[in-house]
Amino acid sequence: MSIKKICCIGAGYVGGPTMAVIAQKCPDIQVTVVDLNESRIAAWNDENVENIPIYEPGLSEIVASCRGRNLFFSTEVDKAIDEADMIFISVNTPTKTYGVGKGMAADLKYIELCARQIARVAKNDKIVVEKSTLPVRTASAIKDILDHTGNGVQFQILSNPEFLAEGTAVADLLAPDRVLIGGDTTEEGQKAIQKLVAIYANWVPQEQILTTNVWSSELSKLTANAFLAQRVSSINAMSELCEKTGADVNEVAKAIGMDSRIGSKFLKSSVGFGGSCFQKDILNLVYIAKSYGLNEVADYWEQVIIMNDHQKRRFAKNIIQTLYNTVAGKKIAFLGWAFKKDTNDTRESAAIYVADDLLNERAEICVFDPKVSEDQIFFDLDYLETRTPAENKAGLQVDDNPYSAADKAHAIAVLTEWDEFKTYDWQRIYDNMLKPAFIFDGRNLLDKEALEKIGFVYQGIGS
Ligand code: NAD
Ligand code: UDX
Repeated sequence: MSIKKICCIGAGYVGGPTMAVIAQKCPDIQVTVVDLNESRIAAWNDENVENIPIYEPGLSEIVASCRGRNLFFSTEVDKAIDEADMIFISVNTPTKTYGVGKGMAADLKYIELCARQIARVAKNDKIVVEKSTLPVRTASAIKDILDHTGNGVQFQILSNPEFLAEGTAVADLLAPDRVLIGGDTTEEGQKAIQKLVAIYANWVPQEQILTTNVWSSELSKLTANAFLAQRVSSINAMSELCEKTGADVNEVAKAIGMDSRIGSKFLKSSVGFGGSCFQKDILNLVYIAKSYGLNEVADYWEQVIIMNDHQKRRFAKNIIQTLYNTVAGKKIAFLGWAFKKDTNDTRESAAIYVADDLLNERAEICVFDPKVSEDQIFFDLDYLETRTPAENKAGLQVDDNPYSAADKAHAIAVLTEWDEFKTYDWQRIYDNMLKPAFIFDGRNLLDKEALEKIGFVYQGIGS
C-alpha cells in the first residue's frame, strides 16, 4: 500500500519547507507538521501567509497553495502520529551543553523523546524516517526504543538526511542534486525504502534518488557538511596568506575553481561560516571519531572549526587595529546579522561573535538587517552570557534603516551578503559618516573601486 498520511515532528527550518514541498508535489498525500512550540505553529497557520515563521524565497507561495488542502500545521502530536503511515523526525539536534560530550556530541534528547512518543502512540505499523542530522548508528537506538517500548507493532527506520541550504531551501527541495535514503537490507527494509522513493519520484528523477544502507546514509550527511565547511575554511586560510603576500583571494579562488577536479562552488572567502549545521555537525563528527579512538581523524576535522573561529576573531581584531587600536565609544554600523543572505536565521552567525569581540572593546554597535528582528539579535548576544542583557542593550542598538544605522559611524562592517547592500546610495552614506570612513567588507560584496573613489577606506577579506 502506498503512503496516504505523513506526519512530520518538528516545524522548523527543515520540517516546514520540506513538508510544504512534499504536500505540493503529492496532492494525494495528507501531510501534517507538528511541533510542541505553540507560537511557531500559530505562525505557520497565520492568516497572512507572509507571517510564516521562516523566511525563504518562494516558501510562502507554496504554503499558500497547499495549506488547509493537504498541508496542516498542528500541536496535536499524538493524533498526527496515530494517523500517519510514515513519520518524519525533523527535530533539532544541537550540540550538547552538559554532561559527557559537552560542547561536541549531538544532543539526542529530542530525538529520543520523539521515539518514545511514537512507540507509546502507534497502534499500527509505521515507517519512521530520520530527517534530522544524526550521528552514525542512531537508527539502532531509535529501533531499540521503538521495539522495546512499543505496542508490538512493526517499525521500519529509514535515514533520509536533508541537504537543503537555507536561503535556497525551496529551489534545493524542488531540484535536489540527489535524495538519499538509507534503510535495512532486509526485505521489509527494502519495501519501506521503495515507499519513500515513490514519494520523491513524483518530482525527482529516479537516477537522482540514491538508496544505501542506514549507516552510509547517516554518515554521508555528516561527511557532506564536513567537506563543504572544509572548503570554506581552506579558502579562508588562504585569504590570510593573500593579505600578507599581495595575492587576491578572489583571483586565487577563480584560478583554482576552473580546475574541474576542484570546482568553482563554495570557494567564497568570508568572515567565517555560520549556520546551525556546519559547526554542530563537524563537532559531532570529531566526537564520534574520538569515541572510536581515531584521534588523527578527529584532529583533522577539528582544524576546520579552529580555522573558522580564527577567521571570525581576526576580522574583529583587524577592525580594532585599523581604527587606531581603539574602538571604545566609536559607532560601528553592522550591515547584516543573518548567517547568510535570504534567511532570517542567525544561528552561529559570524556577526554575533564579531559583535561580542567589539563590545568587549566598548564599541557602540548599530545593526541593520533586512530580515532579522531586534529581539533575535539581543537573544543571540545574551545567549553568549559574556555580559548582562542590560550591558548588551547599552552597547548595541538595532536600526530598521541602513542610512540612519551608518549615520555618524566611524566604520561599517558588512557581515551578511544581502543583495540590497550593493544598491545603496553609498555617497549619501559616506557624507554622513565620520572621517576617515572605513568599510570592512566581510563578504567581499561591495565594489571596492567605486567606494574608494567616493573616499571610503575599504578593506575586504583576502586582498
Ligand atoms: P529547528 O530548531 O528550526 O526546528 C526543530 C523543531 O523541532 C523546533 O520547532 C522544536 O520546537 C521542535 N521539536 C523539538 N522536539 C520536539 C518534540 N519532541 N515534539 C515536537 N516538536 C519538537 O531545527 P532545523 O533547523 O529544522 O533542524 C532540524 C534538523 O535538521 C537538525 O538535525 C538539523 O541538523 C537538520 N538539518 C538542518 C538544516 C538547516 O538548514 N537548518 C539542513 C539540513 C539538516
Ligand atoms: C549547509 C549545507 O550547505 C546544506 O547542504 C546542509 O543541508 C545544511 O548546512 P546552510 O548552513 O543553510 O547549509 O548554508 P550554506 O550555504 O552551506 O552556508 C553556510 C555558511 O558558509 C554561511 O555562513 C555562508 O555564508 C558560508 N559560506 C558558504 C562561505 O563563507 N563561503 C562559501 O563559499 C559558501
